[in-house]
Amino acid sequence: MIAVRYHDSTKHHFNRFARSLGYLDWATQPNPFRRYEGAPLRALSHEPLAGDVPYEALFTGGVPAQPITEHSIGELLRCSMGLSAWKQYGQSRWALRVNPSSGNLHPTEAWIVHDGRVLHYAPREHALEERCVFSSRTQRVGAAEGQSPDHFLVALTSIIWREAWKYGERAFRYCQHDAGHAIGALRLSAAMLGWTLRLLPEWSDAQIAALLGVDRDADFGDAEREEAECIAVVGRLAPSGVEGDPGSGIRDPEGLVGAARGGSWFGRANRLSSDHVDWPIIDEVTEATRYPGIGDQGSGIKKAEPGSRIPDPGSRPETLSARDIIIQRRSALSFDPSGYLQRDAFLSMLDRLQPGAPPWDAIDWPPNVHLLLFVHRVENLTPGIYACLRDPAVLDEWKAAMRPELLWEAATPGLFLLVPIDAGRIANRLSCDQDIAEDGFFGLAMIARLEQPLRDRGEWFYRRLFWECGLIGQVLYLEAEAAGGRATGIGCYYDDPVHDLVGLSGHAWQSLYHFSMGLPVEDTRLTSEPGYLWEGRTR
Ligand SMILES: Cc1cc2nc3c(=O)[nH]c(=O)nc-3n(C[C@H](O)[C@H](O)[C@H](O)COP(=O)(O)O)c2cc1C
Repeated sequence: MIAVRYHDSTKHHFNRFARSLGYLDWATQPNPFRRYEGAPLRALSHEPLAGDVPYEALFTGGVPAQPITEHSIGELLRCSMGLSAWKQYGQSRWALRVNPSSGNLHPTEAWIVHDGRVLHYAPREHALEERCVFSSRTQRVGAAEGQSPDHFLVALTSIIWREAWKYGERAFRYCQHDAGHAIGALRLSAAMLGWTLRLLPEWSDAQIAALLGVDRDADFGDAEREEAECIAVVGRLAPSGVEGDPGSGIRDPEGLVGAARGGSWFGRANRLSSDHVDWPIIDEVTEATRYPGIGDQGSGIKKAEPGSRIPDPGSRPETLSARDIIIQRRSALSFDPSGYLQRDAFLSMLDRLQPGAPPWDAIDWPPNVHLLLFVHRVENLTPGIYACLRDPAVLDEWKAAMRPELLWEAATPGLFLLVPIDAGRIANRLSCDQDIAEDGFFGLAMIARLEQPLRDRGEWFYRRLFWECGLIGQVLYLEAEAAGGRATGIGCYYDDPVHDLVGLSGHAWQSLYHFSMGLPVEDTRLTSEPGYLWEGRTR
């Protein structure tokens, strides 16, 4: 399988990193902002919406649904893909975003399809670029004249070159992590507005590309291409889907693709770098993992059981604002090792990773990713290496696949102490010798079932495994902020040494992402400005 070959050849080893240039070519640093020059720009409202929605409600629901208007769609984007701050150090100034990204390179572009328009989100301006206007009969189904519609579509693409510029061959993995974070960010922003969001397996990647016009060669010239990742329906819908809505483009992609193809298109993609380095293995894995659509992959899709374990709201005050937590999310650069996390807070964070509540209702597959935790500083919990299973059925499999001497002592349902040990140094070493993996409350490796789902469903599922990791990361990023801590995604880790630690061999299970959470140490050398001039000062 090409995906497995790609995965193997982009592993970091103690004595050798995955192939990359090995240095940063500043002359070709990609522009982080894609624009479609010549496309009309539709400014989005600067007025916040739903500022009083409590943080807990993102997961427990009960938020009144906002009407679907350009204002509320703008708020969805502002609180998922918008700018969170501008940072400055000396002469360098750079933007951070609500969604995290490996190396802050932001390969993920967001698109809206609404009211007969295909719109590209321009986060610097907080505006929508009108790429296409088409006959909108299809998209108006479900809304009487003068009423707001029930739903719209949001789609994501990746500009893989942005990550490849820095990370070379491993970049495809990071693009997929970032797409997963973006799906999580969009899902939780939608929850803040009282909406559901659900990926649409009915759409093939080729259909998404056609709808968004990223397959229009003439509009790109020598500009970097965008790779279709996913499309989702957002709105005031039952999570199970939109029944009896045949013209909506939700279940019949071709109707909407045809309408867009026949529409009027505007703008040409800007070129992001003056020169590029080719990484043929990325082209190969990109092609091999394109989703062919539901028709070609049979009935392999298994629906996750909705509502199997809704997290307990826990003991946190209800006064935390969802919007504030979402916008203040940052990656920690280092942790203060004197910080401790309370046991209840830790366990309620793990509960949030169980399927059922948002953001897990955005995806239609059951958990394939489970956690190997390095617990350093959680009160009343023995420091050590733990397994956290997001599906109890995996227990016997993991026991059989891992070293026989591991303890498997149940700490709580789903959480098992494997080795009571101060695992700080181990986590640090495994995570490319990064102190953030050691100095926090806990670190973790996300261990995915790799080979079997790719065989059962197709290589396209490789991308989705990373999306699942990104969703886990996105939940933990927000949970960290809500608990008064901070988190950091860790894409740099030594792959096989993680497997060796617990005795995993072969391709059945592979570590796809690391993560860490702790008490942050602020970098006081940086100055910080708000993401948008019209908003107040951020921290
Ligand atoms: C997939 C992924 C991998 C990352 N890997 C690392 C890492 O190995 N080390 C690190 O210090 N930060 C890592 N980060 C954090 C990014 O550097 C950070 O998200 C980016 O600089 C943007 O900053 P922000 O998260 O504060 O918005 C990672 C983030 C993501 C999403």
